[in-house]
Amino acid sequence: MERRQFLVRSCQACAALAFIPAATLTGCASFKGLSLAADNGMVQIPLAQLDPSGKTMVKAKGAPEKFIVVEQPDGSYSAIELNCTHKGGPVNEKDGQLVCGLHGSTFDNTGHVVKGPAKTDLKRYGVEVVGDLLQVKVA
Ligand code: FES
Repeated sequence: MERRQFLVRSCQACAALAFIPAATLTGCASFKGLSLAADNGMVQIPLAQLDPSGKTMVKAKGAPEKFIVVEQPDGSYSAIELNCTHKGGPVNEKDGQLVCGLHGSTFDNTGHVVKGPAKTDLKRYGVEVVGDLLQVKVA
């Protein structure tokens, strides 16, 4: 193998490895996942890192649960915890809605219950756009 070929293949392998955490967070979804850190109960997400689809999964070290940031039709943002209010099952995005993998509770893109057995909406975190950051208050 020539040196040039080796370098190209090495860079391709590194790029593939760098993408694994994001792909793991998104599961089968086709949008971006971010892995960040919470500082003093706040997660700061650069707006430029949000997925252009309008939905971005976020796992933040120091935050209690994984959440999804959804850009609403009016341009505002919602940060919705992906922990089912029925019995704590994992909620994931599926066909444009948020669906619990345990018993099928379904929530809309603002976290409101569309179909039970859950009777309570998903928890929403406070959000604020400050400059080029979306600040999410997780604690
Ligand atoms: S835990 Fe989510 S529907 Fe039961």
